[in-house]
Amino acid sequence: MVMKIAVLPGDGIGPEILVQSLKVLKAISLKFGHKFILSNCLIGAESIKKNGLPITQETINICKSSDTILLGAVGDPLYDNDPQIKIRPEQGLLELRQNLGLYCNMRPIKSYKKLLKVSPIKQSFIKHVNFVIFRELTSGIYFGKKWRSQDEAYDTCTYKKDRIKQIAIQAFETARQRKKKITLVDKANVLETSRLWRETVKEIAQNNQDIKVDYIFIDNACMQIVLNPRQFDILLTDNMFGDILSDEASVITGSLGLLPSVSFGDHYSLYEPVHGSFPQAKGKNIANPLGSILSVSLMLENFGLKKESFLINRAVNESINLGITTQDLNTKQDLNTKQDQDQDQDKQDQDQDQDQDKQDQDQDLNTKKPCTTSEVGDFLFSSILKKRKRRKRIIIKKNDLNKQLN
Ligand code: IPM
Ligand code: MN
Repeated sequence: MVMKIAVLPGDGIGPEILVQSLKVLKAISLKFGHKFILSNCLIGAESIKKNGLPITQETINICKSSDTILLGAVGDPLYDNDPQIKIRPEQGLLELRQNLGLYCNMRPIKSYKKLLKVSPIKQSFIKHVNFVIFRELTSGIYFGKKWRSQDEAYDTCTYKKDRIKQIAIQAFETARQRKKKITLVDKANVLETSRLWRETVKEIAQNNQDIKVDYIFIDNACMQIVLNPRQFDILLTDNMFGDILSDEASVITGSLGLLPSVSFGDHYSLYEPVHGSFPQAKGKNIANPLGSILSVSLMLENFGLKKESFLINRAVNESINLGITTQDLNTKQDLNTKQDQDQDQDKQDQDQDQDQDKQDQDQDLNTKKPCTTSEVGDFLFSSILKKRKRRKRIIIKKNDLNKQLN
């Protein structure tokens, strides 16, 4: 397969994590013979520095003429603390999302067994969590009319029914391939836009009765996400609520650095990690590249390259299981207290898990110091290219099996 990819490294740790993602792509192209044609473009603070604008028409054109887009991160503290500044790095990303009509943002959240101890939440609460946040990305308070005087300001939240319908339909389609359950997160007890969301989603639910839909207010959702995250399968929500919920949900996985995302509309798609530009880590080779790498895996999967995507996920799992991870995940300090852990013993899983836990502990003792960003990338590169012995499958013919059973 030949794929044209626009690569937008952006600011902060963006470039260094994208280098690792490109290593992984290289491994995939070596293994499968695919050709990835990459075009580098500026966005964010880097683009302001060079062009005076957070994104240029040239970058937008390159994105539009590519098959898809890989983005690192945008944002620079230089702009964060000056309320007077008119041009900001984030505007580049917002303009890109708007210009390309990327109204649907999907952020999968899942807990890894090996990382349960990294999260500050009790392990019994976060075992087997697996849900997806569907965040609307091109309307709402991010894009409504804004105004500012000396001592007053407003941002308006606007939604059109058609836009809500578009993303809701995507969520229903995905729900059908998962657990057939959607939770709409809103503030319908207060906000008019939320009432429009609820009304619209209810109408769609009428015509899709195989999908169970429930409704929850954002304040309660924030609580439920840490209290009982296993109840969720698809969370459907607006732009602002989705932004907040996804950072919160990352605590379940152990690190914001682990979360991938895809944004798409009717014509284009963009893959980026959920985390920001993490300026404190810039250039230190310590940032977690897995959110970006898992975004590449999502990209390949959505382009029909299932086996390729599977290999990346397997390599990521392997790196996590071996503790070949950056410092955000590779902590020797156990955040849960001994008492928490005792209470956390989930009775049902106890027997099954015991042996595995023992192995995990043994492995923990061997855990080396945290790996650097590039070491994680290098490990994944060789893991993908590693020749593995095929496991012999014992195939028993049905007749033989019947004979044996008789
Ligand atoms: C995200 C980010 C962006 C957002 C910023 C960088 C504009 O926080 O993708 O979650 O708020 O959408
Ligand atoms: Mn965010």
